[in-house]
Amino acid sequence: MKNILITGGAGFIGSHVVRTFVNKYHNYKIYNLDSLTYAGNLENLKDLENKKNYKFLYGNITNENYVNEIFKKYQFDGVIHLAAESHVDRSILNPLDFAKTNILGTIVLLNAFKLLWSNNWKGKKFYHVSTDEVYGSLGDSGLFNEKTPYDPNSPYSASKASSDHFVRAYGETYGLPYLISNCSNNYGPNQFPEKLIPLFINNIIENKFLPVYGDGNYTRDWLYVKDHAIAIDLIFHKGIKYETYNVGGFNEYKNIDLVKLLCKLMDVKLNQKKGESEKLITYVKDRPGHDLRYAIDANKININLGWSPLVTFEEGLSQTIDWYFDNSEWLKNVTSGEYQNYYKTQYN
Ligand code: NAD
Ligand code: DAU
Repeated sequence: MKNILITGGAGFIGSHVVRTFVNKYHNYKIYNLDSLTYAGNLENLKDLENKKNYKFLYGNITNENYVNEIFKKYQFDGVIHLAAESHVDRSILNPLDFAKTNILGTIVLLNAFKLLWSNNWKGKKFYHVSTDEVYGSLGDSGLFNEKTPYDPNSPYSASKASSDHFVRAYGETYGLPYLISNCSNNYGPNQFPEKLIPLFINNIIENKFLPVYGDGNYTRDWLYVKDHAIAIDLIFHKGIKYETYNVGGFNEYKNIDLVKLLCKLMDVKLNQKKGESEKLITYVKDRPGHDLRYAIDANKININLGWSPLVTFEEGLSQTIDWYFDNSEWLKNVTSGEYQNYYKTQYN
């Protein structure tokens, strides 16, 4: 039996990773460490509550004493680190929160792992889940590959870039066996409705305006979250230590085209006249430092580990919309309280 720590498992991507591992690996005990910020929600893992090989640990990755204590107690053989402040707009409002969790929290975890295993790293792995935003912005052509120099533009991406550098530095300096992946934009069930797709689904349901930043001609490369979870499983088990893997959807969309596609699908689901949802599109002030385009060259993981996305964008988007309709209570719960304050600050 191996003990595996997954951080941020109550969040969007983390909950899909925890589910994949708990259901697939009965020889692992999965510990989910999460401080349940506004983005963390144990409802995301309700189906796993009573599984024997799953345990939730309530705690903050910046709390050094607590983190050291659980590493000592549970002797984690592997770590999959996803806990982070993850929303770019919030990082513009409050950069310090991002530095604390994303940089400091990562160092606390690295130290705890080093304290436990530096005498013998054999069979141990620290997998850091990161983002393509560390590479900065592309122009109209080109793709990010694993050798693209880091050039982060937002406080969020700067904090993730910094954490990536610390992970690499622990590899170089102490021999800590790490893996890093840098993934493009995820979408799917359980995503907090501050990110583009779930925010716009919720706003269409509530007949609220759809705030498109700038001219809407920004491009992102979209990947279904369950395909990311499969990639994380593969990288954790088959990835070569001290290496980085880029993960992407081979699926570039300009924001405005994506929003129009989403509007079309929502009109069908809501049984309303074609064009109704599009009427809600409103161009608003641009995001400061807005990166023009992200697009991933995912050839390395494709060729070396045999991974490619299984779900097409149209399928994934349709399943995502269905999930939000089927989970209206979830949506109501997460959009009450603090969300209302954030929404006012961000969009008024
Ligand atoms: P999320 O915001 O949905 O979830 C983050 C989780 O981390 C939450 O459960 C939250 O409670 C927890 N958390 C936050 N601060 C914590 C702390 N100090 N201590 C313990 N737990 C804490 O994020 P997500 O979108 O699921 O992203 C997960 C990871 O994947 C992040 O590291 C992010 O940078 C990376 N990533 C995200 C995307 C994307 O499109 N969402 C793409 C590539 C990489
Ligand atoms: O690329 C990976 C990254 O993708 C992850 O590391 C981040 O955690 C994740 O949040 C995401 O970052 P983005 O900033 O690309 O995602 P977001 O959903 O916030 O925005 C997607 C695009 O839509 C971006 O160009 C900004 C635009 N947008 C977003 C919002 C919230 C709007 O036009 N209006 C909005 O209200």
